Order: sequence, then structure tokens, then C-alpha cells
Amino acid sequence: MIIYMLCEDQDVIEAMIEEAKKYTSQGKVADYIPALQYANQNSLAFAVYSDASTCTTAGNIEEQFTLQSISKVITLALALMDIGEEEVFSRVGMEPTGDPFNSIIKLETHSPSKPLNPMINAGALAVTSMIQGSTNDEKMNRLLDLVRKLTGNASISYNKEVAQSEYDTAFLNRSLCYFMKEHGVIEDNVESLLELYTKQCAIEVNCKDLARIGYVIANQGKVVNSEEQIIPLQIARILKTFMVTCGMYNASGEFAIRVGIPAKSGVSGGIMASIPNGMGIGIYGPALDEKGNSIAGMKLLEGLSKRYDLSIF
Ligand code: DON
Repeated sequence: MIIYMLCEDQDVIEAMIEEAKKYTSQGKVADYIPALQYANQNSLAFAVYSDASTCTTAGNIEEQFTLQSISKVITLALALMDIGEEEVFSRVGMEPTGDPFNSIIKLETHSPSKPLNPMINAGALAVTSMIQGSTNDEKMNRLLDLVRKLTGNASISYNKEVAQSEYDTAFLNRSLCYFMKEHGVIEDNVESLLELYTKQCAIEVNCKDLARIGYVIANQGKVVNSEEQIIPLQIARILKTFMVTCGMYNASGEFAIRVGIPAKSGVSGGIMASIPNGMGIGIYGPALDEKGNSIAGMKLLEGLSKRYDLSIF
């Protein structure tokens, strides 16, 4: 099959990375979370996970970065496993917004005022509030356990400096929380919820870890031929669907047309992509476009999708 050539064409992939790298100079590293500003603008790394191993890599794949919004896919999985679809979707919707990821506008103009989906910040904060556990430490440890299973990497942890830096400056996210608390979407102590959310966003991975998570989601929640169902099939399906409709925020429609692969981005520059029943892709390129997606990562995925006919549509 043509997509498996993605695992064999090392020279072609490296040439495509070099081509995509040219776009890094047109992007901007996120600095609204101060600790993220030190990332290397010119970095671009890429890994593909297939058939229970990493098959292709290019660029500095050991470079660590924080999940940021990519964590929203994993907390959604955990909340769904914890309390079920009905309860989760009574507090967060299923529709794309067409607005930036941190927008507050639809919370006020949409009735009832529950957030429209779990991938925007408001929705993700509501989802984080649904993770079960009697303390934040217990909730965070449960989340880390899931990320360790998904990556197959027992040493996964979170970056304390990035978490603290976001916690100290998350005024917009605080506003979203207070708005939702006023309207009964969340009941939590806002500071406590933000502490957990900023730690979740600061979970640290490299491209190979990210590709492995993408692969498990692509393959109905398990590593092919293994026993353990890490995420139930129906939940893996929900995650992929949100990745298509909301994964790249207000660029999701264009991304679906140009690339056509379920994917999720984060402001640290990560993109995780899941080719259904196939491979997982992890990309790290911290220079972002104006919508908060890795500029070179998007170009690279577009090129790969065209060359290897990866679109699911
Ligand atoms: O809440 C925030 O703003 C960040 N921790 C995550 C946002 C993000 O990654 C948006 N992605 N492109």
C-alpha cells in the first residue's frame, strides 16, 4: 500500500522536511506562555509509528516539548472512560466553533452556555474538571499513567517550569472558568482547576512519543496484536472525529481539505496525526502560524498527504 512507503522513503522524507523547514522563518514561537518563548524557531522534527515500532524519523527527534492542546485529546479520553459519554457531553458540546482556541465569545452568545467542543480552551477546562480523583495529584497521576501507556514510555512526566509559567499568566483561561462557573458548567475551585489544567498542558514528550499516541488512537485504542485495550474503541472513534472537526481550531476545515488526516495541534508546536487503521505521526515545529498551528508542520503534512495519498476523504 502506498501509505507504507512512508516508512521506506527516508531520503524523500528528509528532502520534504528540508523543504517544509523553509516556512519556519514565516512563523512565530508562542510567547503568551512565557516559558515557551525559548523554543528554537527553526526546529522541525518528525516521527512515524507503525506496526508496533517507530519506522521513520527525521530532524531532532529527541527534542522534548510540552503537549499543550494535544493533551485535550487525552483528557477527553480519560473523562469519557471515567464518567461516560452522556455525562461528558451534557457539559461540553460536539460542534466546531470557527473561532480561535481561547475565544470566550460563544460562551456568551450560545445558549445554553456550555462550551461548544472539548478542543477549545473552555471545553478542555470543563473536561479537565471531570477527571476523577480526590486530589489534583491523584488526577494528574491517573492522566500521566494513561499517557505512559499510550506512549509506551514509563518516564513521561510534566515540565514544572512551563506549568508554573502558564499558571502565573493564564488570565484568559481564568476568565473562561469563572464564566462557566457562573453558568453551572463547572463547580470547581478555579485556581485548583487551573493548576491541574496547566500541568496537563505541560506534559512533556518527544516526536516518537507523540507518534505512538497517534498510532494507538488510529488503531481503535490499542497497539495492533497486543492484548491491552488502552482506550475503548468507541472512545478512540470519538477522539478521531473531534480531531477532524476541531483539531486544528479555526483551520480545521482547510486542513481537512488540504491534508485530510485526523490531527491535533498544540501551541508548543506539536502536531499529532492518526491515519485510521494505519500509522501515527508526531511532528514538532515551534514556529506557529497566525491560528496557533505549527507552520512548517502543516506544510509537511500537506506534502506527505499529497505524495502518499493519506487523506481519509
Ligand atoms: O490553554 C492554553 O492556552 C494552552 N495551554 C494550550 C493552547 C494550545 O495549545 C492551542 N493550540 N494550538
